[in-house]
Amino acid sequence: MRNISEDTITQAVLAAMSGSKNDRLRTVMTSLVQHLHSFAREVKLTESEWLYAINFLTDVGHITDDRRQEFILLSDTLGLSMLTTTQNNRKPPECTEATVLGPFFVEGAPEFQNGEDISNGAAGLPCFVAGQVRGLDGEPLPGATIEVWQSDEHGYYDVQYADPQQTEMEHQARGRLRTLPDGRFHFRSILPEAYPIPHDGPVGRMLDALGRHPWRPAHLHFWINAAGYQPLITHVFRNGDKYLDSDAVFGVRSTLVSDWIEHPPGAAPDGTQMGTPFYTLDYDFVLNPVGHTP
Ligand code: BEZ
Ligand code: FE
Repeated sequence: MRNISEDTITQAVLAAMSGSKNDRLRTVMTSLVQHLHSFAREVKLTESEWLYAINFLTDVGHITDDRRQEFILLSDTLGLSMLTTTQNNRKPPECTEATVLGPFFVEGAPEFQNGEDISNGAAGLPCFVAGQVRGLDGEPLPGATIEVWQSDEHGYYDVQYADPQQTEMEHQARGRLRTLPDGRFHFRSILPEAYPIPHDGPVGRMLDALGRHPWRPAHLHFWINAAGYQPLITHVFRNGDKYLDSDAVFGVRSTLVSDWIEHPPGAAPDGTQMGTPFYTLDYDFVLNPVGHTP
């Protein structure tokens, strides 16, 4: 291969990898190279812009470690994460829609019984959450596992406070529970608040340069698993939040927006006498059976 010109270089790269034994890799890389080259031609990419992009991606790599994944944040803020989630989770409209996992899920969160308080001292107004997990035909799903995690009143997750030197983090406002024989669940936690995604790195600089803000509307995260059903990773968003229509990671779906109802001090759903105002959220989830596509 010699004398490759700007007109023949795309074909030359495709030909160079045409012998790959991995069919899927060849398909994906062929498309990627075609789109990258088209992009460079379309915007007439300059050499300094090319170098700027290399330096940007280098910065994204440098700030990434076991606790911070700036590449995923980049994917999230460019809409690639939600596009990938959506096109891989097509299901009937009766089913609960999926959203991104996000960077703050932690494996091995503590187990709770229904009715227990998962906040473990996290700051925030008390909130009582209840709902039911059902299958597509309305069948209650007993014994489904529910992972739940959320921010506190300052807009931080427990992992964002934890000392990196500390090997055992203290879990707050996250936990794992199972649905009851009628598919229902209920737990106590705190009111989630809106928060900015980590924006002190290259992704934050990118958002700023693009005139975008880093905020996500207040939400609870859920990851629900039941035998025979497709896993569901999703959020429930707080109705009325000012960022519902400008989520930095494009995750909001109208079907996932729900009312957190404010109550004056008094009897909570579990009978506890509350000395402060508290909130309740009721939200049901519908899972798609394995192998069922719309
Ligand atoms: C989250 O909701 O936890 C989240 C999702 C994407 C990027 C940052 C945070
Ligand atoms: Fe979140």
